[in-house]
Amino acid sequence: MKLRPMTNEDLAAVIKIQERITRAPVSDNWREMLAQHVGNKHLPGIVAENEGKVMGFIFGEVKVGGFGAEISGWLEMVGVAPENMGAGIGRALAEELLRHFRAQGVRDVLTSVMWDSGDMLAFFKNMGFDRSPYINLQLTLRDD
Ligand SMILES: CC(C)(COP(=O)(O)OP(=O)(O)OC[C@H]1O[C@@H](n2cnc3c(N)ncnc32)[C@H](O)[C@@H]1OP(=O)(O)O)[C@@H](O)C(=O)NCCC(=O)NCCS
Repeated sequence: MKLRPMTNEDLAAVIKIQERITRAPVSDNWREMLAQHVGNKHLPGIVAENEGKVMGFIFGEVKVGGFGAEISGWLEMVGVAPENMGAGIGRALAEELLRHFRAQGVRDVLTSVMWDSGDMLAFFKNMGFDRSPYINLQLTLRDD
C-alpha cells in the first residue's frame, strides 16, 4: 500500500468511495470542496493506493489563527472503501495526515464527530484522540 498526496486523477475514485460509504450521491458542493484539497498545503488531501486502486482517503485543514489558536490541524474527513475496512488503512492515512500537520508546525489536532457515531468515535479514540477543551455551538438559520 502506498500513501500519497491526492491528485485530480484520484477525485473520481474518492467520490465513489464516499458515495458507497454514505449510500448517497455527493453534491456539487462536496466535489468542489474535495478539489480544493489537491496541491494545497493548507488543505491537505491524501489517498491510500494499492496496485493503482484508491482504497481510502483523508483530508484536513491547517487552520492559522482560528479559534484562539495560532495554528491547529483539523481532520475533516476520512473514508476507506468498505471491502478494505479493518485492515489498518484508516490508521495509516490518519498517521500520514498527522505527519503533514507536524511538518507545518501543528501541535493540536482537532476533529468533530456526530454524537451517535460510535464507529468513528472508536476509531478516533484508538488513534489517541480525547475530548477537546472546545465545545461546538450551532445556530440553525430559519427561512424568512
Ligand atoms: C472509520 C474508518 C475510517 C476506519 O478505517 P479502517 O481502515 O477501517 O480502520 P483501521 O483498520 O485502520 O483501524 C484503526 C483502529 O481503529 C479501530 N477501529 C476502526 N474502525 C472501528 C470500528 N468500527 N469500531 C471500533 N474500532 C474501530 C480499529 O480497531 C483499529 O485499532 P488498532 O489499530 O488498535 O487495531 C473506516 O472504517 C470508514 O471509512 N468508515 C466509514 C466512515 C463513515 O461512516 N463516514 C461517514 C461520515 S464521514
